[in-house]
Amino acid sequence: MNYNHRVRTEILRADDPGIVRAAEVIRSGGLVAFPTETVYGLGADALNEDAVRKVFIAKERPRDDPLIVHIARAQQLALLARHIPPRAWNLAERFWPGPLTLVLPKTERVPAVTTGGLDTVAVRAPAHPVAKKLIERSGCPIAAPSANRFGRPSPTTAQHVVEDLDGRIDLILDGGPTAIGVESTVLDLTQEPPMILRPGGVTLEELQEVMGEVRLLNSSDSEAAKRSPGTRWRHYAPRAKLILAEPAELEKIVTRLQERGQRIGVMVRQGRLLCSPAPSVLSVIPMPSALSEYARRLFAALRELDAQGVDVIVVEKIEERGLGRAIMDRLRRAGGPEGT
Ligand code: TXA
Ligand code: MG
Repeated sequence: MNYNHRVRTEILRADDPGIVRAAEVIRSGGLVAFPTETVYGLGADALNEDAVRKVFIAKERPRDDPLIVHIARAQQLALLARHIPPRAWNLAERFWPGPLTLVLPKTERVPAVTTGGLDTVAVRAPAHPVAKKLIERSGCPIAAPSANRFGRPSPTTAQHVVEDLDGRIDLILDGGPTAIGVESTVLDLTQEPPMILRPGGVTLEELQEVMGEVRLLNSSDSEAAKRSPGTRWRHYAPRAKLILAEPAELEKIVTRLQERGQRIGVMVRQGRLLCSPAPSVLSVIPMPSALSEYARRLFAALRELDAQGVDVIVVEKIEERGLGRAIMDRLRRAGGPEGT
């Protein structure tokens, strides 16, 4: 898709006047990037087909990759979804507002463009005060994918949004860096047992505590992957090639790349810095050992290494429990189909 309609992008602080202006833009069918507790979203009136179409164009996103619809209060779910099972309300009670997205059969009101042609809709109530106020002021549910160019790492600061979407959207609300740093967990409630289509801010362990059995989509299973179009493509990807390394193999892999003259960026947990990085190691980014802080830092670190012009990013694998599942999911996809 070629993008050739440049618009002037306003950047405003996410204070009350900024939010009032942003709500006007949403109501008039425009596009606003705004902070949520996970990552920045690119918002449009979810019930306005023309507005939603512009989101796909600005991001260069495939039309069949459905958007998440954001609401301010759980009760608004009834406008968007039919057959809402009791456990959907239980989950909403426990995890909303917050980083959990529920997939349910959609009502007629939700246009097919918003759901990428699916007869289900993904809905969440974000916890960030700016996101909440923006939805309330706009008076409509807001469809918002992450505010990055399709395939790029998700934006966790307003500056990341500028890098990807300046000149393509009407307004960016700058609310500082986001708190969680990885996207919401997408949970499909149309299957039994429910299935996590994308691990995210609410962990598998937390969901199991509330619901008992929960399955996790195995994205190499192509049947299952059809249920979540967003899991099909290379995603979250820096321009550099990304290699995931077992902690014990890290030094060996870096040495081999150095011998080939590659410019290398490395992301390792603190306390495991390489002893004597050779000149071709352009940059070592120390990653926090706490998973919540690691998640917050993840996408910015990938963007920083790209900006330094490395050829390869070597990332030390982390444990796949709690938020570590969401982090490893993003790192695997950033590595592309050949990534491990
Ligand atoms: O934290 C988040 O979820 C952020 C913030 C802005 O809320 N949004 C976000 O949106 O990450 P996006 O568009 O980047 O990712 C949405 C994911 C995609 O994997 C998409 O395929 C899936 O949700 N999805 C949306 N609607 C769906 C549906 N009806 N059925 C299955 N998957 C769906
Ligand atoms: Mg995204």
